[in-house]
Formats: sequence, structure tokens, C-alpha cells
Amino acid sequence: MTHDTDADVCVIGAGIAGVTTAYLLAMEGRSVVLIDDGTPGCGQTGVTTAHLSAEIDDGYTEIVRLHGVDGARLACDSHQAAITRIETICTQEGIDADFHRVSGYLFLSPEHGEQILHEEMAAAQRAGLEVEQLRHAPVNGFNSGPCLHFPRQGQFHPLKYLNGLIEAFTRSGGRVYGGVRATTVTGGKLALVETAPGPRIRSTAVVVATNVPFVDVFAIHTKQAPYYTYVIGARIPPDAVTPALYWDTHDPYHYVRVQRTSNAALGGDNDDVVDVLIVGGEDHKTAQASDTEERFGALEQWMRERFPSAAAVEFRWSGQVMETQDGLGFIGRNPLDADNVYVATGDSGMGMTHGTIAGMLICDLIQGRNNPWAELYDPSRIRVGAAGEFLKENLNVAAQYTSYITPGEVSSLDEITPATGAIVREGARKVAVFRDEAGEIHKVSAVCTHLGCIVGWNKAASTWDCPCHGSRFDAYGRVLNGPASKDLEKIASHSEDRANEHVQK
Ligand SMILES: Cc1cc2nc3c(=O)[nH]c(=O)nc-3n(C[C@H](O)[C@H](O)[C@H](O)COP(=O)(O)OP(=O)(O)OC[C@H]3O[C@@H](n4cnc5c(N)ncnc54)[C@H](O)[C@@H]3O)c2cc1C
Ligand code: FES
Repeated sequence: MTHDTDADVCVIGAGIAGVTTAYLLAMEGRSVVLIDDGTPGCGQTGVTTAHLSAEIDDGYTEIVRLHGVDGARLACDSHQAAITRIETICTQEGIDADFHRVSGYLFLSPEHGEQILHEEMAAAQRAGLEVEQLRHAPVNGFNSGPCLHFPRQGQFHPLKYLNGLIEAFTRSGGRVYGGVRATTVTGGKLALVETAPGPRIRSTAVVVATNVPFVDVFAIHTKQAPYYTYVIGARIPPDAVTPALYWDTHDPYHYVRVQRTSNAALGGDNDDVVDVLIVGGEDHKTAQASDTEERFGALEQWMRERFPSAAAVEFRWSGQVMETQDGLGFIGRNPLDADNVYVATGDSGMGMTHGTIAGMLICDLIQGRNNPWAELYDPSRIRVGAAGEFLKENLNVAAQYTSYITPGEVSSLDEITPATGAIVREGARKVAVFRDEAGEIHKVSAVCTHLGCIVGWNKAASTWDCPCHGSRFDAYGRVLNGPASKDLEKIASHSEDRANEHVQK
């Protein structure tokens, strides 16, 4: 992107939420510019496990308590509609995204009795979801024990889907620009998006689909919290485990599915069919645990106890989910902003369906149509029943500010091995220090540019993550994820010896 441009709508962020919104608006004849700081799918959509479920992660027992039966029915309706919309788009656009309808099975974690399943089944039925209780899931390779069965859920390959959507979007005249970071959004009759490279975009509406919005300082960020989750993948013999979505009642829950692919796609030298078991879980508040290896290890042990056909773990990855205080996404007009600035955030671990709902809902709002889900997902909403969660998460945020007075993690820069980072104390300030593969030291301020919490090193992703509201920065301090919109402040590099003098444990 080299020049200022105009469009009906500017969509910021090319993950599933932004791309779906851009695609649906383009299908209605709107001129749309879609920009992304990186490349499409480089955010959380690129690391998702892509379960498509209308059984809300927090459970309908909780959703009914917080949103009432009517709200739960709308939530169920919207997530079912999202799965159907993905299926329809794949068919209409000829996108081969490995979409399949599969059953979902919610099974018991050892600490729980069957009562939890009885209650959840009753609540899910009140929400209008088809569900039955079984003594065992009728599947190969997994002894589930008592479980709930949700027929006709889905799974797909998110990046194949995203690429197909982008192709359809550009065929309809949509414009996509990668490597363009939006820095400010000014709503109003003619909204203005300013970007880091310089060119500006003028439009009549702006959709901020950056996973966590950078256009809001407090309103949304006090109502959602960042959690970090881990995933492993291991080959299983073909058909050893029936393709389905499996997850348990543990908190945090474990989630499992099977991806069929070819040996060649995994770097092998033939096209033999390969099934990969994908297992996730071990979540914690972002930047509030550093035992990465232990978490991957615990996940593997959990998998081996339940899926004995799994071979050695071949794949490991991780990512962030945003948990809202009331279990549903924030989708709609940005609170305290002009009427033509929209946000999609708060995936609550269900960003594939929430992102698709965002596309449908925001498209309706921009097109001036009523949408029955608008109030349920309104980012300005406050649910009285969520006050406890609100308090708990915000006390946790407040506690993070004590990091200003704690010591650094290392007493000498020599302790920082290549390709890792650590927080060090230099006099009164905390510094985030990264040693690159070549051994060179890179220092930035450890103070998050959103509201000043102290970031922590994420071993699994080699990023600096903020424990407060979800901001993430690369190893050199460049912002990857909002709400921060600015990079971590660079600290003039001294020679390493000199820097070492200032390090205080
Ligand atoms: C390990 C893991 C497993 C998951 N499993 C599931 C699952 O099974 N089912 C499910 O439904 N959900 C799941 N989720 C959640 C889901 O993946 C995410 O919620 C979803 O991908 C978020 O999509 P998004 O479009 O909101 O954000 P993203 O995919 O993160 O896209 C946001 C985009 O915005 C861009 N961006 C950010 N800031 C700017 C800026 N200032 N200017 C321009 N561009 C910017 C980024 O580069 C990025 O490409 C999982 C998440 C993780 C991490
Ligand atoms: S994300 Fe809010 S202080 Fe860092």
C-alpha cells in the first residue's frame, strides 16, 4: 500500500473475524479494504485447533445463568448458524477446507460426577441444542465413559478456509494489504485509519478485527482476560480414533480432535493417508506461568492415558484466547466511540464461530439491518451475574503492578541463553532483554505500552506477553497484538559489560 485510499469499509485484521466480515460485505457490493499488520492468518487463526461447536465452552448452565434462557437460545442459534455459514461458503465458493460435520462429545474429568452432565444437558436443551447423554461415546480408540453427545458439530482447516475466502473476496473487487499496521482510527462521518507505513484509509465504516482491539483503552479490556493455551499433535494409525470433537469437564478443559492429512503434507515422501491426533489444554493466565515444558509434558501424559494409539509427539504450538466475563464474544459498535467504528473481540476459546458471527452481525449493522444477536453480543453490555468474574480478573490485573518492585529474573545477562529472554532490573526500571541466536543482546522497556503492566517472556512462542489485557510483542518489542498500539520502548544499547554492571537480582 503506497497511497491514501478510499473505501466504503476498512477492515483491520485478516484473521477469521476480519476476513469473514470483509468477504460478506464485498458480497453485498460494498467496496472494502482489508489490512493486516502481517499476513492473513498470522494471528490466532493460524494456531487454532478449529473445533466448530455450538456447545459454548463455558457450558449452557453458565450461559443460562448469565444471559437467561432467551439469551442462551440466541447464543445457540448464532453458533449453529456460524457453522452452517462456514459450510455454505465452502460449498458456494468451492473452498476445499476439509470441512466435515462431526459429533461432539463432552466427557467427565475424574474429579466430576455425572450430575454435571445432567445439568449441562438440561441447560443445553433449554437453549435449543440437540444433545443426548450416553454411557460411552460410540467411537474407536477412546473410552470416554459417561458423556454428552452433540450431533452435527464441525471441523475444518482454518487456513485453507481463510485463503479461499480471501480469493473470493478479491474476485469481488476487495483489496487486501499485508504488512500494514493501523495505528489510529478516528470515527465520524468520514472515518480515518492511519497506518504505520503512512498511507491513510478513508471510509464510511471501520471494523477493528485485530483479535484484541487497540482502539479502546478501558471499556472492553476490563471485561475480558487473556489466557494462554498449549497444543500437541501425534500421528495415530488411520481410523484408530473416530474423527469427532472431544473435550472434558476439567477446568481448564482438554480438547481433542483428529486431522486427516497426507504424509507429504507433513514433509514425508509419499501421499499415504495420515491421521494426526490434536490435543490441547493446560491453559493459564497469559504471562503468569513459565513452566512451558511441564505443561507440554502434562498434556502428553494426559493424551497417553486416554489415547494409547498415539505415536511420539511431533508437533507443539500454543496461543492466546480472550476469555470474557460472561462467556460470549464482544461484537458490534466500539463502546464510547463514533457509531461507525465496530469491534470483534472476546473469542472465549470459540473464535472460529465467534469470528463468523462477527462477520454476519457486523455486516448487518453496517448494512442497516436488524440482527437478533446484536444485543447479546453488544460490546457495551454488562451482565449483573458476571460481577464476580469481573472482580476476580481485575484484582488479578491490579496484582500484576506489584511486578514493578520485584527483583529481576536473572542476576547477569550471561544467564540468558541464545534465543531466550528474561526480565532484568536496571536500577529502578525493569528491562526486557532478548539474546538472539547470534548472541547479541536486545533491550526494550518491560513496561507494556497499554497501561503499564510488566511483560513476561513466553518461552513457547518467543514473545513478550503482558499479563493484564492481552498485548503481545515480538522478541524485539514490536507489538503483535493489542490493546497496545505502540512497540515496547527501545533502550539504547550499551555494551554488554556495561549493561551487566546495572543488572540487579
Ligand atoms: C491454540 C488455540 C486453539 C484454539 N482452538 C479453537 C477451536 O478449537 N475453536 C475455536 O472456535 N476457536 C479456537 N481458538 C480461538 C480462535 O483461534 C481465535 O479466537 C480466532 O482465531 C481469532 O480470530 P480473529 O480474527 O479474532 O484474530 P486473529 O486471527 O488473531 O487475527 C487478527 C489479525 O489482526 C492483525 N492485527 C493486529 N493488530 C493489527 C493492527 N494494529 N493493524 C493491522 N493488523 C493488525 C494480526 O496480524 C492478525 O492477523 C483457539 C485459539 C488458540 C490459540
Ligand atoms: S495489555 Fe494492558 S497493560 Fe499490557
